[in-house]
Amino acid sequence: MSNSSGKRDSGDSKLFDFESYRNKKVQMINRGLSRLIPKSGVRPATLHQAMRYSLFAGGKRIRPILCLAAAEACGGRPERALHAACAVECIHTYSLIHDDLPAMDNDDMRRGKPTNHKVYGEGVAVLAGDALLTIAFESAAKSCPGKRYGCSDLIREIAEAGGSRKLIGGQVADLEAEGKPVTAAQLKYIHESKTSALLCCSVRLGGMLADCSPARLKALTDFGTNVGLAFQVIDDILDVTQSSQKLGKTAGKDAAVEKATYPVVHGLEKSRATARRLTKKAFKALEIFEGKALALQALAEYLLDRDC
Ligand code: IPE
Ligand code: IPE
Ligand code: MG
Ligand code: MG
Ligand code: MG
Repeated sequence: MSNSSGKRDSGDSKLFDFESYRNKKVQMINRGLSRLIPKSGVRPATLHQAMRYSLFAGGKRIRPILCLAAAEACGGRPERALHAACAVECIHTYSLIHDDLPAMDNDDMRRGKPTNHKVYGEGVAVLAGDALLTIAFESAAKSCPGKRYGCSDLIREIAEAGGSRKLIGGQVADLEAEGKPVTAAQLKYIHESKTSALLCCSVRLGGMLADCSPARLKALTDFGTNVGLAFQVIDDILDVTQSSQKLGKTAGKDAAVEKATYPVVHGLEKSRATARRLTKKAFKALEIFEGKALALQALAEYLLDRDC
């Protein structure tokens, strides 16, 4: 759905330069993250180096970009949502460091580099994850929300999405499902909890920091839930169809440890169709923004078409 100039057709014939939008937002997020995390020399230096190692290893920054784009769709300035955007990226990066540990998915490669525990050892990797999780709340607490939502609302959003009923609960269910048959409903629960919840939280935080109406917050919730589930379905597909080099993480890993994935339960073709259907639902949720959510639309489209 891209045209020859690399710009994306927004669907209502206006062109949106997604590549340049994404580059600008990545720079802004990287600056925010670098200000947030203590410098590598600050004691305990190993810990801060380990936090920075994974955080600046070259992630796509999808969640913080979603947060900034949601704020803009609601008429807010992206700068206002930056602390929250950095918070969700810290939560995400912590979850990856722990996800890669030998006790979990036991992965050697992440973001094109050796995993955190391979470089710093398991003890420091656990603690770097803990510290990223904690600093996420410090970052969110620096936000200056408007009239409708207070700082406690933002903190609660992150705690719930990252907590035992969502991200961590999903990770537990993911581990418990290894090597076992799962129903389609169980699989959907795993993916919605471990992945979709944080993407949904990211767009909700952006909307809240732009003081959005309840109707718009509901629309962002629908958008985020659908895009979030599609995101993990695509992640499962890419694990089967792409190389480790392309992904920057070990391909074929899910099948090797018999993970519960969409391709295993539904097959590749049906999984692709599901991701497309979810993305369409996400587009529909954006109608309330009357053409002001082009970045969110372009992001959803990019996430569907991505190859890494
Ligand atoms: C990978 O997320 C983990 C999942 C939830 C599937 P990303 O694909 O967003 O990873 P990075 O941040 O770009 O490394
Ligand atoms: C990871 O899912 C989800 C979280 C980290 C919360 P995966 O285990 O599928 O992610 P990858 O494939 O290792 O990036
Ligand atoms: Mg995992
Ligand atoms: Mg994994
Ligand atoms: Mg995966």
